[in-house]
Amino acid sequence: MELPPVELGTFDLSNLETFWTRPRDEREGAFKALRDLDGLAFFEEIEFEDSPLPPGPGYWALARHADIWHVSRNPQLFCSAQGSNIGDMPQEMNEFFGSMIAMDDPKHFRLRSIVSKGFTPKEISKVEEYVHTKASKIIDDLVERFPERRCDFVEHVAAALPLQIICEMMGIPEEDHEKVFHWTNTILGVGDPEFVGTLEDLMAQALEMFMYAQALGEDRRANPRDDITSVLMAAEVDGEKLTPQEFGSFFILLVVAGNETTRNAVSHGMKALTDHPDQLELLYGDFDAHAKTAMEEIVRWATPVIHFRRTATADTEISGQKIAAGDKVVMWYCSGNRDERVYDDPFRFDITRPIQPQQIGFGAGGPHFCLGANLARREMTVMFDALRRRMPTLRITGEPDYLQSNFINGIKRMECAW
Ligand code: HEM
Repeated sequence: MELPPVELGTFDLSNLETFWTRPRDEREGAFKALRDLDGLAFFEEIEFEDSPLPPGPGYWALARHADIWHVSRNPQLFCSAQGSNIGDMPQEMNEFFGSMIAMDDPKHFRLRSIVSKGFTPKEISKVEEYVHTKASKIIDDLVERFPERRCDFVEHVAAALPLQIICEMMGIPEEDHEKVFHWTNTILGVGDPEFVGTLEDLMAQALEMFMYAQALGEDRRANPRDDITSVLMAAEVDGEKLTPQEFGSFFILLVVAGNETTRNAVSHGMKALTDHPDQLELLYGDFDAHAKTAMEEIVRWATPVIHFRRTATADTEISGQKIAAGDKVVMWYCSGNRDERVYDDPFRFDITRPIQPQQIGFGAGGPHFCLGANLARREMTVMFDALRRRMPTLRITGEPDYLQSNFINGIKRMECAW
């Protein structure tokens, strides 16, 4: 792809309306300018309508793979507890919404040690069969519900699987799945006018989800079943169990993190395969040979999570730029995953791309590396395998309707036909 030259000073990464609605190639041009800069660029934060909080002090933008890698792997120097997204929230709100993603050790370590018990290979393999059954069912439903052989890929294919898997893992009854889907849309849709009106709406939805989760956790502590909620509510580290409140916040993180990300990886993946028929042919022609590298390439290509933030705990330097204690640094994974210093021809979608050097769509290593990465890889693999076997002619036929966000690279709707 030929990137249009975009000059520094002509764009503002903080502005959802003027930057994040620009054509994608222009945005890529802007990130290239940031990657090629000696040192780092600083961006002001802007005031959001309806927000009771004043804008924060701004942040340094990390666009190169190496800088993101460095920050992600030095949690003592670049902490998470002061916030993992650009804007500042009161500490309690950080933990309420972010759970472990907005914590540092030792708190983070304790919580991660407990919840990791729900993500062991044994637990993941228990879901494996369920993932296959669900993927098959999604396709059966398509055949039955859409005799005209076209539908919205996001709603009817990509979104259905991750949501049902998380809900099933957590032991959420089927009649509540729709409710969970709506809550996650609201929380991650902040900034897109379609999903949320005011901050109060958002808080109300989050609180509803929190209360729902607390009740679920309390129920499984009293009446354990064969689900991850029961495993998590029974697990102990140093004699301590999760409190229902901790479980409530973790639940918000899990359903949000597990749903939207995987859904968008599958949606962008199908779009990329449609746009690159040679790659689709390659993958569908010998799925087992290519699935592993193809899924990594899809996550690199999609980079469903656009950024996370850290805060410097001491004076330091990144790429020669002086960073003061308390400064915010924002890791733009979308740019790190297109860094021409690391990837050969990064704008080429290539499902045979070697998995080293590592793509950073699941994070760039360190204590917060995606807890659900292996589950996500399994879900994606099973979904594309099911599509290949059962609906080999399915292609994306409509233009994606993108979510307006600088955090989630989301597709809201996109027509497909088979
Ligand atoms: C393609 C799908 C996914 C992508 C692209 C993705 C991406 C990410 C990223 C970028 C992070 C932050 C890493 C860091 O700060 O170092 C993260 C953390 C996390 N992810 Fe994922 N994720 C995906 C799927 C999932 C799934 C399926 C689950 C669970 C069911 C999940 C659960 C989590 C959790 C709990 C964290 C926080 C870990 C911590 O703070 O220790 N993710 N993910």
